[in-house]
Amino acid sequence: MQLIELGVHRAGVTRKNTSQTLAASTRKGFVHESPRAQTIEWFTPPEVFQALGLHFDLDVCSPGAGKSCVPADRHYTIHDDGLTSPWYGTVWCNPPYGNATRIWLRKLAEHGDGIALVFNRTDTAWFQETAATADVICFTKGRIPFIDGRTNRPAGSPGTGSALIGYGPTAQQAIQQSGLGLCFQPAPLQ
Ligand SMILES: C[S@@+](CC[C@H](N)C(=O)[O-])C[C@H]1O[C@@H](n2cnc3c(N)ncnc32)[C@H](O)[C@@H]1O
Repeated sequence: MQLIELGVHRAGVTRKNTSQTLAASTRKGFVHESPRAQTIEWFTPPEVFQALGLHFDLDVCSPGAGKSCVPADRHYTIHDDGLTSPWYGTVWCNPPYGNATRIWLRKLAEHGDGIALVFNRTDTAWFQETAATADVICFTKGRIPFIDGRTNRPAGSPGTGSALIGYGPTAQQAIQQSGLGLCFQPAPLQ
């Protein structure tokens, strides 16, 4: 088991805590980004939310209240359809992976208040489009051990790192103080 320690910076203080560590195991065969993955139920681990220090108004794509660690007042499930239901306040968006990622990110960009968590596929059209309009992008230090919704346990290391894409001052502030990784602001397109 390989551990990637996450230094969490808050108010100028670096905090390292093994219980709040992003663990990346070297277990083989975990490729939940792959279209062959057998489930879309991969959940964000609590360490990410502890570092962000935010309570969201809405989780726009969720397995349901109490089924994941997302601190939010309301959770849209596939039955509500978070893509067509109204978004309000500061939202959390860890979209189902696949072709629809671009649509979820476009909706977040239009909404203008919230955070998306996606794989850092910087070469893709959807990432380029999103990066151009975000207020901040954070490339995570280490890989996030997403929780397998079938077992409620960390599933090991995904095939790539992640990016937090923030819109609006609340999201921007939370991401920049989180210590989750290196942050960038996209330069205006000319
Ligand atoms: C990658 S998981 C993220 C779960 C949780 N938001 C988190 O960050 O831990 C994506 C979730 O979106 C749900 N989902 C899929 N399609 C959806 C839709 N159209 N509207 C709302 N939720 C949806 C899935 O059931 C799954 O629980």
